[in-house]
Amino acid sequence: MTVPPRLGVNIDHVATLRNARGGANPDPVEAALLALRSGADGITAHLREDRRHIRDEDLARLRAEIRAPLNMEMAATDEMVAIARDLRPHACCIVPERREEVTTEGGLDVAGQTDWLGPVVRALSSKGIRVSLFIDPDPLQISAAASVGTAVVELHTGAYALGADGELGRLKAAAAQAAALGLEVHAGHGLSFGNVAPVAAISEIAELNIGHFLIGQAIFDGLGPTVQEMRRLMTVARSV
Ligand code: PXP
Repeated sequence: MTVPPRLGVNIDHVATLRNARGGANPDPVEAALLALRSGADGITAHLREDRRHIRDEDLARLRAEIRAPLNMEMAATDEMVAIARDLRPHACCIVPERREEVTTEGGLDVAGQTDWLGPVVRALSSKGIRVSLFIDPDPLQISAAASVGTAVVELHTGAYALGADGELGRLKAAAAQAAALGLEVHAGHGLSFGNVAPVAAISEIAELNIGHFLIGQAIFDGLGPTVQEMRRLMTVARSV
């Protein structure tokens, strides 16, 4: 039987909405619990250096209140590594981060920073955290990711989501290369009801992390039904 990819729901933008007015609503932890009740397999939250959405106390509450795997997205900085080693989430996904960007715009340059990323991967793995590196579907970056000892690569689907020529083929080739190197393969960024199926169908992909579309669509359909529909589309895509 084909196992469908796991769905990690990124709740950052529930916190974005909360922070727009201050106060406590809407609560990202409540959103996480509802997403899990609606078919999500895990929760993803990105603690940015500027704390523009998720805050330290959100992560602490998520860690305490959800039973499902928590995936902390973070930059490879000393501050974030210390927070993650203390929090001990199930997984950490290392992403590039620039203060002026609106979202994570491209993958990590692992090949250009192996000396820095190797120790970061070890510092997290030694605490039992499953480390993932967020990279473009580029053969050079995949080999470099394997060389620094990460367990997982998350392939950036942003260019695919924007409709760039040949991107689905690059994702398929990258997933096959990473799996052949023994890496678990995840993917995410810009995925929606309209474009998720071809990515969910790639047999090596074990997990998709999806945020912005789900939180936006929840305005119209509610978060529970939106997560259920994404879960359904992913399962159908993998079973055909
Ligand atoms: N995966 C990673 C590593 C990300 O940085 C993001 C964006 O925060 C996502 C997945 C989810 O992207 P989106 O919000 O576009 O679904």
